[in-house]
Amino acid sequence: MRQPLVAGNWKMNGSVGSVRELLAGIKAGIGAIDKCEVAVCPPYIFIPQAQTELAGTPIPWGGQNLSTETSGAFTGEVAASMLLDFGCTYVIVGHSERRTLYGEDDALVAKKFAVARAAGLKPILCVGETLDEREKGVTEEVVARQLDAVIKLEGIKALADGVIAYEPVWAIGTGKTATPEQAQEVHAFIRGRIKTRDAGVAEKLRIQYGGSMKPDNAAELMAKPDIDGGLIGGASLKAKDFLGICKAANDSV
Ligand code: PGA
Repeated sequence: MRQPLVAGNWKMNGSVGSVRELLAGIKAGIGAIDKCEVAVCPPYIFIPQAQTELAGTPIPWGGQNLSTETSGAFTGEVAASMLLDFGCTYVIVGHSERRTLYGEDDALVAKKFAVARAAGLKPILCVGETLDEREKGVTEEVVARQLDAVIKLEGIKALADGVIAYEPVWAIGTGKTATPEQAQEVHAFIRGRIKTRDAGVAEKLRIQYGGSMKPDNAAELMAKPDIDGGLIGGASLKAKDFLGICKAANDSV
């Protein structure tokens, strides 16, 4: 049985005050969540605050991105060692916003996965097709290409050190969630593709769904056999909504 992981991707949102309030709200409700792992990925600047406020709780935190470099003249970048220094467990790599807005390609994302893993962080690898790609019927091709870039660089066993998040780009921040059937189909495809290379890795690997997940659609998504939690954007900014999703994941176990 895989333990679901619900992770909040706060994106570029928050202030010292709102982070304090959000984390206090999550901490107040986390006692009821005992079967699902719950994590938050704040913007870099709030990671020290998360570290302080989450000390002594079961809630890990992580970054939303990292550099492929270890140190030096890379203005504006943050290294894996720095995330570790501030207690991060996770780091998101290859989010579609990084791919589309900042030109991150499959090779760069694979390198980020490798650098995170080598440092001892758990990468959350995001994959997913655009609306245009879905309509063209190339969803599986796209997801396979994104996945294979990491497998080619790191080997199949490396996937066991991370998490995969299937996030159809057309569902992110749009209010348009994939149906549980649409999501399950791609999750099963991902797991199946990994299984042909390593059944043990495929069985243990957590595959989150991401894209307009909310408390009222989370339960039916989590009920699907290959959906192991969620990567939550908008709904992770309100403690009540985020906890509602965590509860749905918790109840699905
Ligand atoms: P959303 O974002 O929940 O706001 O759709 C998900 C994500 O981008 O990780």
